[in-house]
Formats: sequence, C-alpha cells, structure tokens
Amino acid sequence: QLNAVIFDLDGVITDTAEYHFIAWKQLAEELGITFDRAFNEQLKGVSRMESLERILALGDQADRCTMAEKEALAHKKNEHYKQLIARMTPDDLLPGMLDLLRELKRQNVKIGLASASKNAFTVIERLQIGAYFDTIVDAAKVKNSKPHPEIFLTAAKQLRVDPSTCIGVEDAQAGVAAIKAANMFAIGVGDKEALKEADYIVETTADLTYDAIVRAFYRE
Ligand code: BG6
Ligand code: MG
Repeated sequence: QLNAVIFDLDGVITDTAEYHFIAWKQLAEELGITFDRAFNEQLKGVSRMESLERILALGDQADRCTMAEKEALAHKKNEHYKQLIARMTPDDLLPGMLDLLRELKRQNVKIGLASASKNAFTVIERLQIGAYFDTIVDAAKVKNSKPHPEIFLTAAKQLRVDPSTCIGVEDAQAGVAAIKAANMFAIGVGDKEALKEADYIVETTADLTYDAIVRAFYRE
C-alpha cells in the first residue's frame, strides 16, 4: 500500500540543481579548478561542505586551505546561490510537479520533503508550495547526509508511515542510495546511467504523473 511520497527538492521539484551547479562552477573557476557535468553528478544531494571538499580534492587543493578558508569559500558559493534563488517564482516548478502534488493530496497520499539544503525553506516559500507538505526535513534536522537513509527515515517517522509503504523521488545518485537504504521504492529523475540503482527511472518530471508512479510502485 502506498502511504506517502517523499520528495527531494533540488532538481526534482524545481531546477535548483542547475543553480547549485552554476554557483559551484563559478567558485571553482575562481580557484582555477574546472569541472564538468559528469563530475557534478557526484555533487548532487551532497552537503555544502562535502561538495566543497570534493571540488578542492579534484583540483588537488584539499590541503592548501585552512578550515576558516573553507568556511569562507562555502559562504561565497552560498551567497551566489542565494542571488540565483531570490528571483524564483511559482513558474519555476518543474513540469508536472504541481499536478502531482495536487493529485497526491486528492488521493490522501501523504507528502514529505527530504532536502539536504539549508535553503530548502526559502525555495519552498518562493515556489509557494509549503501547504502541500505534511512534513519537511532539511539539513538542519539530520546528522547524517545522503546516501545515509536518516533524512528519508526521519520524514517517514514524522508522517507515521512504514518506509516500505513510501516512494522516494530523487535526481541524485547519493539520494537514490539513501532511499534504497531506507527500504523505500526509489524513483530517479534524470540520467538512466547515473541513477541505475533506482527502481523506476523517468527522464524528466513531465513523466512523473500520479498514474505512472502508482503503477510502478504496485508492479514491484
Ligand atoms: C542538495 C543539493 O539538495 O543540497 C546539493 O543537491 C547541495 O547540490 C545541498 O550542495 C546543500 O545545499 P545548501 O543550500 O545547504 O548549500
Ligand atoms: Mg536533488
């Protein structure tokens, strides 16, 4: 039985995954480090500081920075990111997402958010979709980051549903791994190869209809 759908935010509900990419890329270029979209797949779903560590390691600069310098770099990236999200409106919801949220509500399926971002509340506010969520778990509320299942398990607990009755929706490798580790049905949005661990994969959110996800869940 399907009791709840727990969504990742960045790259699933809205295309903030692209904003994170743009902001990291700018910071990396200032440090003389270049990275491509393939490398960026590894940053998706990963916390701010861990993302910075991975970029510095890519450029062989991990040992060159003090902790204070790393904090300053992470802060700089976030300032750039905040500028990008400040302009967001409800029009920035990805295709089909508003219909899906509405249909889940109509069908009495609970809705959760599991986001590694400290900016999650701001983004939800800009999109004006806060009322759809029965629970929101963000980076501030968990100790372990994805691929650890804690964030998805916390959302299920707050929704008072068994994880095996939940669908998790993710665009990140680390996120799909977290959903599977939580013993939930994993839906991946995006690249088939990058998200191959998912139980069901759609190329874009336009394919994420209520009927499609329910059919996929019960086929298992
Ligand atoms: C995740 C994104 O949702 O949040 C990552 O996929 C991002 O790219 C992480 O690094 C942390 O976000 P923030 O807003 O706290 O820096
Ligand atoms: Mg994501």
